[in-house]
Amino acid sequence: MSAVRSIAHVFPAVRTTEGGGFIVNRPFPTRQLMDFDPFLLLDEMGPVDYAPGAAKGAPDHPHRGFETVTYMLEGRSGHKDSAGHSGTLGPGDVQWMTAGAGVVHSEMPDPEFVHTGGRMHGLQLWVNLPASDKMIAPRYQEMPHARIPQGRSADGLATVKVIAGESLGARAAIETRTPILYLHFTLAPGARVEQPVPAGWNVFAYGLSGTAQYGANGEEIGAQHMVAFAGDGDTVAIATSAEAAEPVEVLLIGGLPLNEPVVRYGPFVMNTEQEIREAVLDYQAGRMGSIAR
Ligand code: FE2
Repeated sequence: MSAVRSIAHVFPAVRTTEGGGFIVNRPFPTRQLMDFDPFLLLDEMGPVDYAPGAAKGAPDHPHRGFETVTYMLEGRSGHKDSAGHSGTLGPGDVQWMTAGAGVVHSEMPDPEFVHTGGRMHGLQLWVNLPASDKMIAPRYQEMPHARIPQGRSADGLATVKVIAGESLGARAAIETRTPILYLHFTLAPGARVEQPVPAGWNVFAYGLSGTAQYGANGEEIGAQHMVAFAGDGDTVAIATSAEAAEPVEVLLIGGLPLNEPVVRYGPFVMNTEQEIREAVLDYQAGRMGSIAR
């Protein structure tokens, strides 16, 4: 008999602007919640409808000490970096970037998308690296939507895209440095899933659209809210009302906490103030490189 984790806290996302001025819904970091070990940030970019020529992004900036996971839902985003790497992310594509010791990259809308305008919707998750991995060489994993494994419940009412971890019979293709679960559920009216989660992991859900029911009692919580689960069970339950008008989209994200000091300064996340000073000096001296143009 499995025990369903209860809800510890619900945090509404804060609407703010990021990069070159694009709007994000941010469940954390906020004044209420600085991080959710091992996760440092979750931004839901948009959804926003851009007029032709208006789309914005994040021009050249560095990262050190953690991983950025970009998951596009709508629109097209381009990226370029100091290691000579570049590409485009379209709907459903994932880029798992391990910044490690440092990269400089840009995350800008695809020029064609800027020209035509349209809807932009995506997610960026920051996954902290353990102290022993903070200075490793950068690594990229690009996962086009067609290669992201999908699972389905026996009754067919729940489907899941498995970006990291395992769910409903599907296992992720992406490799993570520490054990991580990153799932995107689409729940038709009347769906119910019980996702196994290991003991000791920190786990949260984030609603993208519609109202979902969480926990053993099916507490109803709307989209753009983060549901942080307590550590009191070995599954997380997510369901939808049989009367729901539309499918409900929910992310379920979890991981083994690092339990290490977190010192963050903008795009650098290290364990000590001294390491942050070194990161700033290394960046200023060009030791994280620059984007060739
Ligand atoms: Fe970035």
